[in-house]
Amino acid sequence: MKNIVVFGASNSRNSINQQLAQWAGQQLEGAQVKVLDLNDYEMPIYGIDKELASGIPAEATQFLKDIEEADALVISFAEHNGNYSAAYKNIFDWASRADRSVYKNKPTFVMSTSPGPGGAGSVINIAKGSLPYAGADVKGSFSLPSFGQNFSAEEGIVEGELKAKFDAEFSNFKEAVYETSIEA
Ligand SMILES: Cc1cc2nc3c(=O)[nH]c(=O)nc-3n(C[C@H](O)[C@H](O)[C@H](O)COP(=O)(O)O)c2cc1C
Repeated sequence: MKNIVVFGASNSRNSINQQLAQWAGQQLEGAQVKVLDLNDYEMPIYGIDKELASGIPAEATQFLKDIEEADALVISFAEHNGNYSAAYKNIFDWASRADRSVYKNKPTFVMSTSPGPGGAGSVINIAKGSLPYAGADVKGSFSLPSFGQNFSAEEGIVEGELKAKFDAEFSNFKEAVYETSIEA
């Protein structure tokens, strides 16, 4: 059984990226999907003075441990002003101070979505550029525009062309998961 860790890079209780990441994780047949909630890793805003005074918070260490236990990752990025959400960036910054290889060479599928037609296209490009420097082995990516029109909780991606595009990208990720992951 493969362990897939998924999360929306958002602290919204109703995060559309969380919904998308969870659905994508469920597209891996025979996998166990663990959904992380970024609210479980809330920490003070990163600062070198706080780090020197108090060290790395336990939540950052726990985040790294939860990533370590995965065979593969699905992360869907919320876009705030063209960039990462502050909630994600803070966790990422703290975790990277404990271990520069936050994503520990795990096969990773990078996603984004937004309510508008842009599909959070800016943040997904930032993530694709930055994650390999944090140890992610990026095996595919997909941005879903206009979440409300193109996604349903029951059926997932409902628009045909977008679903085909997702399937094509996700198949590379699937292959990587089943080739490289360790049997539990
Ligand atoms: C502070 C803030 C900035 C935002 N900036 C963008 C943006 O740059 N591009 C975009 O497509 N949506 C933007 N949005 C709208 C988000 O895409 C929308 O809130 C979305 O639901 C966030 O994903 P989530 O539900 O997973 O948190 C912004 C929302 C907030 C609260």
